[in-house]
Amino acid sequence: MNSGAQDPMLGCIGKIALAIMVLAASCFLSTGAKAGSRDDSAQKIEEGKKLFHARCGFCHLAGGTGTIMLARRLGKDRALLEERTDLNVEYIKKITRVGINGMPPHNRIELPDSELDAIAIYVTRPASARTPAAAAGKGGAP
Ligand code: HEC
Repeated sequence: MNSGAQDPMLGCIGKIALAIMVLAASCFLSTGAKAGSRDDSAQKIEEGKKLFHARCGFCHLAGGTGTIMLARRLGKDRALLEERTDLNVEYIKKITRVGINGMPPHNRIELPDSELDAIAIYVTRPASARTPAAAAGKGGAP
């Protein structure tokens, strides 16, 4: 009889212990992921820059069709994609997959998700990663 009454109690303690372990583990994992992502992002930005120049540069560097058409539609300040600070990752990925006006869509065979991720991270990189002066703490754009 006694053991019958203890079983549900033990089960409950077991569940609480399990919940604490899961919480502790997820805490540990999320701090680990945050610590790692800083290095990852610097690396991704570098990788994204190379990919942007290789895959988008034909149209989106100075003199490219994309640059010329964006200058016409949005003005010279927003013509060069890699200097824009008003774009977000979702928009860049969406436009790249579906295309826009004169820009052809890029599918996952031509441009895998991992490469597009890196490109979007590069284009939306923080101000501190934009100019050598800003990165060295010498200021930059106000
Ligand atoms: C064949 C030329 C071409 C290539 C390659 C190309 N683009 Fe474009 N892209 C364009 C043109 C042209 C436009 C402007 C269309 C318009 O709005 O009139 C454009 C517009 C865009 C826009 C919209 C900007 C805005 O403010 O609305 C984004 C984002 C973009 N391109 C991202 C990319 C990325 C990322 C790549 C590389 C993976 C890429 N493009 C490759 C031609 C190209």
